Amino acid sequence: MTGAWGPVEALVVSQTEVCQDTYLMWLSSPSLARGATPGRFLMLLCGHALDPLLPRPMSYHRFRQVGEERQFAILYDVRGRGTAWLARRRSGDRLWAFGPLGRGFAIERGARHLLLVAGGLGIAPLIALAEEAVAQGRAVTLLYGARTEARLIPISLVPQEVEVVMATDDGTRGHHGPVTELVPRYLAWAHQVFACGPREMYQALAQAMRREGLRRPAQVLLEEHMACGTGICYGCAVPTRRGMRLVCRDGPRIALWDVV
Ligand code: FES
Repeated sequence: MTGAWGPVEALVVSQTEVCQDTYLMWLSSPSLARGATPGRFLMLLCGHALDPLLPRPMSYHRFRQVGEERQFAILYDVRGRGTAWLARRRSGDRLWAFGPLGRGFAIERGARHLLLVAGGLGIAPLIALAEEAVAQGRAVTLLYGARTEARLIPISLVPQEVEVVMATDDGTRGHHGPVTELVPRYLAWAHQVFACGPREMYQALAQAMRREGLRRPAQVLLEEHMACGTGICYGCAVPTRRGMRLVCRDGPRIALWDVV
């Protein structure tokens, strides 16, 4: 089988460590790129044979056109055996993956000002969204937080049309404190909000909107452990205000107000 329901081959075009333990990998695979949009994901096998057994969900981080081909990149942290193996891959190596999967971000037609809020590796899918929005002529502000400066990806990887405001928990770069403390300044300007990061960040984002009395349409990406990625195992079920949802099939994009 191929495409969303079976693994296909992907060629590693390049791999770079962009900040401490975070890698950017460009891949070539027409069937994995076809139909991929910001917020959707693929399941990537990170090892030889069946070790480790389960594939890893990876967001599409950005896209580019190379001649006739649409290539895509992933951005990932080295967290365990599988991602350590992935970090040792080099240009010309071949990987196996299936996708694209899930439901991605949806920008409202009239939303001219987009506020993006990224926590840590949550920056990964938001860069693809920012590129799409800028190409459509929308204004984008990105609030980007991490634990410390060494964990921030270089600003050169963000489209230059995007206004970027940074925050670090230890104050080594930008605002000293959680990135969500920056949100109130931009809410009146924003027509739509998009976020990706830890669950606590979503709670803080919702609280900021409630406090300001500015409840904007907001979409977030949920992260859950995934075994199948295709709605079969029910391992990624989460409670929402609209009942149980499968992150891999019904998400990962979900309305903020359904999960806070
Ligand atoms: Fe199996 Fe979502 S990962 S149902």
